Amino acid sequence: MILKNINNKLKEMLPEKRFNHSLNVAKCAVKLSEIYNYDKEKAYLAGIAHDCAKYLNKEEVKYYVNKYNINLDSLEKDNLALSHSVIGSYIAKYELNIENDDIINAIKYHTTGKENMDMLEKIIYIADLIEEGRDFPGVDYLRELTYSGKLNEALIVSFNNTIKFVIDNNQMIHPRTIDARNYLIKENL
Ligand SMILES: [Fe+2]
Ligand SMILES: [Fe+2]
Repeated sequence: MILKNINNKLKEMLPEKRFNHSLNVAKCAVKLSEIYNYDKEKAYLAGIAHDCAKYLNKEEVKYYVNKYNINLDSLEKDNLALSHSVIGSYIAKYELNIENDDIINAIKYHTTGKENMDMLEKIIYIADLIEEGRDFPGVDYLRELTYSGKLNEALIVSFNNTIKFVIDNNQMIHPRTIDARNYLIKENL
């Protein structure tokens, strides 16, 4: 599907605010591709499409999970905040016809991260957090690290933030986030 059609389809699937966030993530991912020598078109596409499943209603979730036989783990089931990335990877592939596996995986893992992330998975994970519209305590520090070539450090800080947040709120930690953090810590030792 050509980019214009993907954009139009996403505009139908997302409220304006979320579509703008997606545009910002795409823009940020392109900037990061310049810094980290990545393919800008792939980064843009992954950015624009990453949240395509964020606003599915319960019926739609059921429909797509059945249609594409999507395997959700016990933490993802009934939790769209986590599962939209996994479900979104199928929608991107089969409904938006994005064929590149790197893009599909970057969408799939943008909420939890995973062990041994590739460059696009890292770029989309961090762009989702630091795009220009984001404002939370510590975001400028994350931007500073990311834009100064310290992408892995930025990722470790953001995994730490996520894990601290879920502990403070007595929520469950997704094991992929722990794997993502441990892998980077080991690699950076
Ligand atoms: Fe998301
Ligand atoms: Fe997002």
